[in-house]
Amino acid sequence: MSVPVLELRGLSASFPSGQGRRTLFTDVDLTVGGGETAAILGRSGSGKTTLLTLLGLMQRPEHGTITLAGRDVSSLSDADAARLRNRHIGFVFQNYSLIPHLSVLDNVLVPATYAPRDVAGGRRGRVRRRAEDLLDAVGLGGRGQDLPLRLSGGEQQRVAIARALLLEPAVVLADEPTGALDEQTGARVLDMLVATARHEGRCLVVVTHDDAVAGVMDRVFRLGEGTLREEDRP
Ligand SMILES: Nc1ncnc2c1ncn2[C@@H]1O[C@H](COP(=O)(O)OP(=O)(O)OP(=O)(O)O)[C@@H](O)[C@H]1O
Ligand SMILES: [Mg+2]
Repeated sequence: MSVPVLELRGLSASFPSGQGRRTLFTDVDLTVGGGETAAILGRSGSGKTTLLTLLGLMQRPEHGTITLAGRDVSSLSDADAARLRNRHIGFVFQNYSLIPHLSVLDNVLVPATYAPRDVAGGRRGRVRRRAEDLLDAVGLGGRGQDLPLRLSGGEQQRVAIARALLLEPAVVLADEPTGALDEQTGARVLDMLVATARHEGRCLVVVTHDDAVAGVMDRVFRLGEGTLREEDRP
């Protein structure tokens, strides 16, 4: 097996509800190596987005540990988590989360504006070219100067995917990244995500409701009945 990049041990999540707390899941274990791709399936409301935001260090776990490239990142400060996320994690939000007053190209470039100079600032021209190449790769070449609201939902979704890949992160976490795309466009974008993950040794975790998406991933997990289980593959 490849070197573990992302490792969860004994993770749980619960939320305040009425008088008490509602447990979403407990005892979640997951190890995904570099170059490995994984799908997470589960009913609406089962906690897939919650699990992905924990993986993406957007919130800290109540119980359990998260390890990224061998480093325990379960209890970082918000500032340290943000730095690590910017440098190593690309996140495709379920609702895209584009910035409405920035052009498509500037949306893709957002991660570079928060990155240290050696990653982005020292090579402005290069990162801009990469943003343009990524827009081409998701079929949006020539749309860089449009505002997000002038794009269709599926086009906005592809901008969000390009943005997540900008800094060549070690980990890409994508929340239903093809949910707004037709079959053909979705397959093309997914192929790109999977091919670059394998080629660049990146770990890719995709939340999906689509069996066809799950079918191209190396491993498939299902979130339900309060925990995460790996499914047997034929
Ligand atoms: N910050 C929060 N406070 C309270 N409840 C929350 C919070 N975040 C999520 N939840 C609840 O946790 C449950 C799971 O939400 P989550 O968004 O993780 O589901 P999901 O599996 O991604 O669903 P979908 O497939 O519809 O996107 C929901 O019932 C939601 O209301
Ligand atoms: Mg969700």
